[in-house]
Amino acid sequence: MTFEQYMSLIQEVDKHNYHYHVLDDPLISDTEFDQLMKELIQAEKENPKWQSPQSPTMRVGSTPSNAFETITHQTPMLSLDNAFSDEDLQLFYNRIVKTLQKPIFSGETKLDGLALSCIYENKRLVRAVTRGDGQTGEDVTHNVRTIRSIPQTLSDSAPDMLEVRGEVVIHKDDFVKLNQSTSGKVFANPRNAAAGSIRQLDPKITAKRPLKFYAYGAYGSNLPNSHTGRISWLESQRFLTSKHVKELSDVKSFNAYHAFILEQREKLPYDIDGVVFKINNIDEQGLLGQTAKAPRWAIAFKFPAEEATTLVENIHFQVGRTGALTPVATLKPVKVAGVIVQHATLHNIHELNRKDIRIGDTVNIRRAGDVIPEVIRHISSKRPADSVAVAPPQKCPSCGSEVVAEKTIIRCPARYQCPAQLEGAIIHFASKHAFDIQGLGKQLIHSLCIQKIIHCPSDLFKINTTTLSSLPRMGTKSAKNIIDAIDHKRSVTFPRFIYALGIRDVGRDTAKLIARHFETIDQLQNATVDQMMQIDGIGETTANSITTYMRDTRERDNLMSLIELCQIEYPQKTQSTLKDMIFVITGTFSVSRTDIQGLIEQHGGKVSSQVSSKTTYLILGHSPGSKLKKATDLGIKTLDEAGLNTLIKS
Ligand code: IVH
Repeated sequence: MTFEQYMSLIQEVDKHNYHYHVLDDPLISDTEFDQLMKELIQAEKENPKWQSPQSPTMRVGSTPSNAFETITHQTPMLSLDNAFSDEDLQLFYNRIVKTLQKPIFSGETKLDGLALSCIYENKRLVRAVTRGDGQTGEDVTHNVRTIRSIPQTLSDSAPDMLEVRGEVVIHKDDFVKLNQSTSGKVFANPRNAAAGSIRQLDPKITAKRPLKFYAYGAYGSNLPNSHTGRISWLESQRFLTSKHVKELSDVKSFNAYHAFILEQREKLPYDIDGVVFKINNIDEQGLLGQTAKAPRWAIAFKFPAEEATTLVENIHFQVGRTGALTPVATLKPVKVAGVIVQHATLHNIHELNRKDIRIGDTVNIRRAGDVIPEVIRHISSKRPADSVAVAPPQKCPSCGSEVVAEKTIIRCPARYQCPAQLEGAIIHFASKHAFDIQGLGKQLIHSLCIQKIIHCPSDLFKINTTTLSSLPRMGTKSAKNIIDAIDHKRSVTFPRFIYALGIRDVGRDTAKLIARHFETIDQLQNATVDQMMQIDGIGETTANSITTYMRDTRERDNLMSLIELCQIEYPQKTQSTLKDMIFVITGTFSVSRTDIQGLIEQHGGKVSSQVSSKTTYLILGHSPGSKLKKATDLGIKTLDEAGLNTLIKS
């Protein structure tokens, strides 16, 4: 066989893959297909040099050295804002028409799977990354190559750099078969099965799972300028796409589309949890922009969540870490959407009154995905004569302070003097995405608070082994370990520091936006509402929450102590010694690869995960992977860790 024949055999096999896995309309029998595969395997065995990562033979799975490496998305993979009612849809529409005169939307199904980003360079699939936290995800290329509905190569009309985003799912009928065939483990639903399959260490197992990929977005140059245009283009490139994509123009048509899809839901081959409406024109999407979490040009309209009926045994008020009192119902345990539920939120006093929920009532509750279960309504016909209505508390159930009413929220004003708020604040402060203090569990935090060893978060950095070992059941050794763990985290990055403060409305994403905008904590302390609102993604509510926090003397005292007791690591200004250089990293180093990447980026260099003719240097650690061979073949220069440091200093 010549190389040309080998290449056309690849095309032939790809074509049959497409007809079988995407069009669901095979042109040849399974035996004929197996025969073609055999020829291909034989050709690669005889000519190992020909073997390309895009060959159909790779679809059975092979493990590379970079499996599950963390990869930063070129543009963050955002989530979608949700609409739960017609009013929410109307609000979305009203916001859009402030910017666009006659907007055209597209409607499509919202697939219930997991998001994936596929990167194509020079028309070849080079990388596939999970959504992760939206900023960084995991390299799952080895597993994704086994998904037959993902093309490994694209046609000539594809741009040289292309990102395709979409959802990995398992069809409902395939799911039933999968659960029947896998001995032992039974998956709860297709989404869990898909997620478990994509994170398999052994791609040969993934290859056997019936995964499908539905593309819903393409990013690159010279693509059609409308979402629907891009969906058609993706289809022309042999991708599966979300079904029933339709152009829509107003809220009325949103509702009609939603009703239509709800009717189709059962018949669709995959699970969906709602529909998505997007502005169709890509330039207009850009005009509307995005917040830290979600684009302003799209909204998800979810389907009603699964409901159940049960009895309210009690209603009590829970004090959150910001002092808000939330009414919570204790329920007779009941199964909803596969999970036993025993507590459900009533949100706030206004909702409690509106729904008129009493102890002794039979109620409907619902649970949607990962959302906290909520009480929807009581069933009047089942209300017993002795049902008990619950009055809003005048005093905080945790500390007894007089509560204050703020619109629909009742709040305890005692801040760190209130044990519930103090505990909540410390749990948040020490949590994984804040100071990430190991070994400081909820139980210990509870003891530290009730024993009055700590009075606000900054006190954590003041405790010593002697005070700590005075706690019941705390030996000197464990006390020392905990003090070490706290000391170890005295130095923290700026975004983590901001997030740890627990300012109302400031989650991780917002904290990152703030940290990127202000150079120091002093600047943030002195910023006005207007200055904060200049940050793309920060609105008036959040800006007000920040200034309210900064003005509160109790928060200021805590903040000032924190500034004294710990060290904030500010992002270093980028220097430009490595400007215009592209680096690829392989092997292991004295520090983590993320650190090496950080170092390069800090000095203005770029890091790419694949060696190409554009690579300036390959940074070589111990036991380098296949990238070294590729670099040598292409004549790319290599540098070791010391060489990199010298280059930076030059
Ligand atoms: S568009 C910028 N379209 O829903 C946001 N997302 O809740 C782009 N999803 O993480 C997302 N079907 O995994 C879009 N037709 C669809 C979708 C879809 C499912 C998922 C996606 C995303 C999540 C957001």
